[in-house]
Amino acid sequence: MKGILLAGGTGTRLRPMTTILNKHLLPVGKYPMIHYALCKMAEAGIRDILLVIGKPSAGLYTEYIGSGAAWGLQVSYRIQEEAGGIAQALGLAESFAGCGEKLMVVLGDNLFEDSLQEAVKAFEHNDKGAHVFLKKVGDPGRYGVPELVNGRISRILEKPERPPSKYAVTGIYLYESDVFDIIRTLKPSARGELEITDVNNVYAAEGRLGYSLLSGWWTDAGTHRSLLEAGIRLMEREEP
Ligand code: G1P
Repeated sequence: MKGILLAGGTGTRLRPMTTILNKHLLPVGKYPMIHYALCKMAEAGIRDILLVIGKPSAGLYTEYIGSGAAWGLQVSYRIQEEAGGIAQALGLAESFAGCGEKLMVVLGDNLFEDSLQEAVKAFEHNDKGAHVFLKKVGDPGRYGVPELVNGRISRILEKPERPPSKYAVTGIYLYESDVFDIIRTLKPSARGELEITDVNNVYAAEGRLGYSLLSGWWTDAGTHRSLLEAGIRLMEREEP
């Protein structure tokens, strides 16, 4: 399985710092945010990773990560010229993904505790189309929210006013290589982006969307408060 780490985006909710530094390079405890997703991918046994980044700060990523050797990884880079949504950024990885390869996709601002090793192994050995990871949260309306019917995801609503469950769809996804065929069929959403939720809804409609629940801590570090809390939590884990 190959990995795709998405770290484009403008991080408007984290201004003013993100006017001079890309969100995924902001400090979280001791390390830049992107460090943690790389560690999680390495822990899950993914070795070959494409990092999709924006133009601003691009040089800082190569300075910090280089070839990925320090993590035991082989990291390559792709520039997302303009922010066009998560699914658009993922679409840029098609030639990297190659034919028939299964993929782990992680949003670089997602910080979490669970190991993904078991889920990756299981996905490698079954032929389900896609797999998402859910986490129970107090404010589901900020996220993609699954509607669960008879233990299955019937559909996902993006930032719904009336959430159909208490779960957030986290920014960790496993896909078969047909994900790129689905991306080609997408139309921009009301906010002008190609939505990852629309991709997942195609799999849900076909009955090919699996899920598991994260039992440990998770955040998307998208606000100043969640960023600060994530930093404290991760520091405490390292220096109890
Ligand atoms: C994105 C996805 C959303 C998901 C979230 C997780 O939201 O669109 O479905 O729940 O990541 O971090 P965004 O960060 O673009 O608001």
